[in-house]
Amino acid sequence: MIGATPRRTGSVVGMELPPSLVSEQAIAQRVDELAAEIDRAYAGTDMLVLVGVLKGSFVFLADLARRLTVPHRIEFIAVSSYGDRASEHAEAVRLLMDVRHDIGGQDVLLVEDIVDTGHTLTYLLRMLEARRPASLGVCTLLHKPDRTEREVTIDHLGFSIPDVWVVGYGLDYAERYRTLPYIAELPPEYR
Ligand code: PRP
Repeated sequence: MIGATPRRTGSVVGMELPPSLVSEQAIAQRVDELAAEIDRAYAGTDMLVLVGVLKGSFVFLADLARRLTVPHRIEFIAVSSYGDRASEHAEAVRLLMDVRHDIGGQDVLLVEDIVDTGHTLTYLLRMLEARRPASLGVCTLLHKPDRTEREVTIDHLGFSIPDVWVVGYGLDYAERYRTLPYIAELPPEYR
């Protein structure tokens, strides 16, 4: 039936849903505020290029982009870190998929779901800066300042969060929980 809203469960079968750290309502309100902030910051631009970092940013980017009134286009980039995040090689980032169109001379806003150690952001900024955009900004929904090892400048920030494992709203644990509509702290028994 058109208009019927199926109950969202986060698609986690056989387990209780993990506890909420940032609610759906709090995310929606903050995304509204971020979109207004970005609209103001880029009021004069002909075309803002939003570069979403896959996979985690896809939910945030979709919601953010649909709230913007400034003209914009969407690009995606995909990176992966070598080994796992806790390993000694966690700082090594590799490019899996590049943007499709040139960003030279354009206003570019990198859109992340989370800045953790800051290695991914540092790598991406260095790579994109070399292509000489007119401007290069950073928007991230989440930042874990206690984990950040690199000096990073975040122009538009959703929430600073403590050093806990978070999932939902695009963020995963072993590819699970990405479609949870809120951001949850994942207790050890869920891993
Ligand atoms: C997450 C997130 C960032 C990166 C941040 O991606 O989307 O890109 O980690 O971590 P850092 O600040 O420590 O570099 P992840 O590697 O989990 O991949 P995914 O987005 O494909 O799930």
